[in-house]
Amino acid sequence: MDDSVPARRSTPPQPRSAHTGPAPGREAVDTAVARPVRFGALGTSSFGWRRVLPAMTACPQTELVAVGGRSPERSQRFADRFGCAGSSLAALLERDDIDAVYISLPPSLHGEWAARALHAGKHVLVEKPISTTAAEARAVVKLAEERDLVLRENFMFLHHPQHDAVTALIAEGRLGGLRSFRGAFCFPPLPAEDIRYVPGLGGGALLDAGVYPLRAAAMLLGPGLRVAGATARVRASDGLDLSGQALLVSPSGVSTSVEFGFEHAYGSSYSLWGEGAKLTVDRAFTPPAGYQPVLVLEEQDHVEQFTLPAADQLNRSLAGFAAAVAAGGAAASPGEARWRQDAVAMMELVDAVRAQAVRVTVEG
Ligand SMILES: NC(=O)c1ccc[n+]([C@@H]2O[C@H](COP(=O)([O-])OP(=O)(O)OC[C@H]3O[C@@H](n4cnc5c(N)ncnc54)[C@H](OP(=O)(O)O)[C@@H]3O)[C@@H](O)[C@H]2O)c1
Repeated sequence: MDDSVPARRSTPPQPRSAHTGPAPGREAVDTAVARPVRFGALGTSSFGWRRVLPAMTACPQTELVAVGGRSPERSQRFADRFGCAGSSLAALLERDDIDAVYISLPPSLHGEWAARALHAGKHVLVEKPISTTAAEARAVVKLAEERDLVLRENFMFLHHPQHDAVTALIAEGRLGGLRSFRGAFCFPPLPAEDIRYVPGLGGGALLDAGVYPLRAAAMLLGPGLRVAGATARVRASDGLDLSGQALLVSPSGVSTSVEFGFEHAYGSSYSLWGEGAKLTVDRAFTPPAGYQPVLVLEEQDHVEQFTLPAADQLNRSLAGFAAAVAAGGAAASPGEARWRQDAVAMMELVDAVRAQAVRVTVEG
């Protein structure tokens, strides 16, 4: 950005019929749920402890009934904190006082436990990614369809209305014809024992971080993205991908690049570049609940900033899921079908990135 170009603050664009079609995470939610959706949590994870389970107990549309883990002591610690029952993983699925499960196990177990929960007649909110391969995602989706149960990934950013403001600017023609999308989700190294460093548990940067910019590209550019190439920095000891990049192209020729990794300074952003302007969204994937997003639109002769209202994307994810469950037969609705199709499409991109990546071995 040229420093001499004046920045103008503007009122937020009004979301209207999006350039990219209905947004699956940001449909109007009917909050008048007759009774809260009763959840069992599968996994005594750090993310559940810090973020999701406190939000679930605070959300009027959801109720936490039980937590199941592989360790009875840890399950009980969760039960004590959240005022619910402790359980084993398998016993939780036998309870008839839960409607839905929230799965925060390592990614390699997502598909298996989602399938077990669906077989037990429970709706499923599973942490991202839904599985580690497209084949496994397809199998779980088929099961949800057959049993008419709601199946969603907890991709919280999809629920943030800042992306509606982006699609409104595109629809208003402020960017002109789109030429490229760039997205990145990168962060510093994690503790050595983190599940993200264990290949057998579905670790690696592509599955943990790369799925965010891939999903954002699909959200904004629509279906049909194709992978043209990829790179991965893999560690010498076990081949785990620490970071990577992928180049894709949309059916209309929008060039797309995504970057991901856990060996970087923090970054969580995307930008869209059109013939008339460039639009940047910082904090695209992880805006805190109280954060007011600022969209930056750069045109040839001026810069505009749109400061948007804060939104709690985790609460919106939970409330949206609860509304889908309360709607009944929701697995057959177009909105729910879109959630499932998008989950499979993303895993197809993940498979393609993995297959095409040129690997460079690094120490780490
Ligand atoms: N949506 C988001 O923004 C977001 C953010 C962070 C994480 N996540 C997702 O949340 C999930 C958990 O991540 P986390 O960082 O919270 O990880 P974590 O604290 O390490 O939790 C992993 C959970 O899996 C269990 N586990 C580990 N290995 C297992 C095994 N071999 N068999 C059975 N259970 C096993 C752990 O059991 P113990 O408790 O007994 O160790 C723990 O309950 C991941 O899928 C991650 O992608 C999502």
